[in-house]
Amino acid sequence: MRKEDLIITIDGPAGSGKSTIANQLAQRLDGRRLDTGAMYRAFAFEAVSRDIEEHPRELIHLAASFTLSIDADGRLFVGEKDVTDAIRTPDISSWASKISVIPEVRSALVPIQRRLALPGPTVTEGRDQGTVVFPDAPVKFFLTASPEARARRRHEELTAKGTVIAFERVLADQIERDARDENRAVAPLKRAADAILVDTTEMTIAQVVDFLMEKITAVID
Ligand code: DC
Repeated sequence: MRKEDLIITIDGPAGSGKSTIANQLAQRLDGRRLDTGAMYRAFAFEAVSRDIEEHPRELIHLAASFTLSIDADGRLFVGEKDVTDAIRTPDISSWASKISVIPEVRSALVPIQRRLALPGPTVTEGRDQGTVVFPDAPVKFFLTASPEARARRRHEELTAKGTVIAFERVLADQIERDARDENRAVAPLKRAADAILVDTTEMTIAQVVDFLMEKITAVID
């Protein structure tokens, strides 16, 4: 298969290791990584900035004109605004999950994802990449880990950034978010029938990356 056509999808719940793994795979493949959760976060951030996060009609209106861009350093912009760091808060995690149930918001972001993914090789991560956005991707993974392990990773990440938050709060938020992401009507978090399931609870990052690389190499060689 031509490298330019290679799209690898990684879906899974929060804290399953998708972002770290996607970054490392993209480096190994000399390709790029698409963080689709960041796009839903950017939309939620803009909605909160406009104070419309609880108003479906206005959210749908915003979706119709929403534009995103990513610069050469991978920084994410809504219009002229660099939102890369501001979207990484527990509050925006929760709003992104709530707002991403709106079909019109998803319909606005999916074409952007498809456009940014080509040419490959591209490693794209999210909740619906293997099921809805790239159903024909030649290699698909679904990462998971126990709820406690995922919440522990998230908690460590937030603490390292200086965010003071109790572990129990991270776990409770995560359980709520998983349930919403899995049960929404449109593009729920779900393993594609042809996605390889990887439980990362007891694995190191290097082990996961090596395992996924083996599977990818088998397809591209
Ligand atoms: O991966 P993340 O935690 O940054 O994603 C934030 C939220 O965005 C997640 O709770 C659900 C939503 N999301 C989605 O609906 N579809 C995607 N492909 C990626 C994220």
